Amino acid sequence: MRDLLNDAAARASRYLESLKTRAVVPAPDALKKLDRLGGPLPETGEDPSAVLQRLDEFGSPATVGSAGGRYFGFVIGSALPAALAANWLAGAWNQNAALEVMSPAASRLEVIALGWIRELLGLPPASRGGFVTGDTLANFSGLAAARHAVLERAGWEVEARGLFGAPPVTVVVGEEVHVSVLKALALLGLGSERLVKVPTDDQGRMRPDRLPELEGPTIVCLQAGNVNTGGFDPARAICERAHSAGAWVHVDGAFGLWAHAAPSRRHLTEGTEEADSWAVDGHKWLNVPYDSGMVFVREGRHLKAAMSGTQAAYLPTSDTGEPMEFVPEMSRRARGVDAWAALRSLGRSGVADLVERSCGHAARLAAALQDGGHRILNEVSLNQVLVSFGSDEDTRRVISAVQKDGTCWCGGTTWHGRAAMRISVSSWATTEDDIDRAADAILRIAAR
Ligand SMILES: Cc1ncc(COP(=O)(O)O)c(C=O)c1O
Repeated sequence: MRDLLNDAAARASRYLESLKTRAVVPAPDALKKLDRLGGPLPETGEDPSAVLQRLDEFGSPATVGSAGGRYFGFVIGSALPAALAANWLAGAWNQNAALEVMSPAASRLEVIALGWIRELLGLPPASRGGFVTGDTLANFSGLAAARHAVLERAGWEVEARGLFGAPPVTVVVGEEVHVSVLKALALLGLGSERLVKVPTDDQGRMRPDRLPELEGPTIVCLQAGNVNTGGFDPARAICERAHSAGAWVHVDGAFGLWAHAAPSRRHLTEGTEEADSWAVDGHKWLNVPYDSGMVFVREGRHLKAAMSGTQAAYLPTSDTGEPMEFVPEMSRRARGVDAWAALRSLGRSGVADLVERSCGHAARLAAALQDGGHRILNEVSLNQVLVSFGSDEDTRRVISAVQKDGTCWCGGTTWHGRAAMRISVSSWATTEDDIDRAADAILRIAAR
């Protein structure tokens, strides 16, 4: 076992070091060789060291270098050293985080990490939370608590009776709502198409002056960090209006809520603390390994009511609630371990610095591209940049050529009807040198 784990560590270190020089995208030949991982199920087993060798030989070269410093697609963080190492140790522990009795260490680490995250995000100290797979499930969990609460106020117990014959629930979203919220609403039986959509401004922020009259059981979904622009819905004004009408406010803060941890960006999140539930990712800006997201609910009893339909004689309960009573899953890996290690290694100032640095890198890249004659389509107030390289056709050509070139990786999107390159700087590993290399490559390609 020891030799095997040492071999895994050596291979992993070599892999991470190789990301500094190798292309961000795998070579076509590496993709072809993925076939070597397939074939018929072996009749007899293979030595574990040979299994690992095969995985490294054919798996590693076919990965995308998103753990390095020049991957700017989607919103992808890499794994901080302490978080990755803790994740390995936790892998060896192989704890089930469903119940405290199954793993006192896993439950305690979740509670500690959730407490620290709550503080960094400026959320109410008494709110309850849970670790889930990512922001989609965090949105699902927060919105399940919302569904419970607004229907309970209308005299309807949704977990027991379902939605058959229930009072209708109005769901309000911005026009720029993230698809994961729509998926969560669909899973909850609230429908992804029967929504009230509020118009947004040029940065994709909900316009509070266009919020409709709110009446009856209502959930308002806010966004802290638009996936294209990084823009924030004006939370204070909307929370005030929604709460005066008895509505529930949920915040999708996948990456944007982390802005609260950085003093110079905190103003962007203003008012988010007044909401009723929050969804946030660990595997994006906190840079913990996949998969890791967190849900928080101001009045934890609503989350517990929505999630605790799993009682059975063999499952213990406790006065404070078992971890699985606050999340959709029963068996879960001990996600709190990675988050705890990330936070312990960074401290408050390190998290602030991670956010600041990413935002600074985004601004540096935007400035270089603008100086090169290209149009920045958003206000670069966070870690997201949208760039146009002329016509939609030109922009798509540049995106595709940049992706093939492999110096860095940037995705594409459509912003207000125009094709745009999307750049998201979310990794602790990105350096100024990475930004300058990326800018040089993009400018070189755009000039062709
Ligand atoms: C605003 C927003 N919400 C939700 C998500 C989905 O997060 P996850 O992939 O962790 O479920 C994303 C992903 O980029 C996002 O940017």
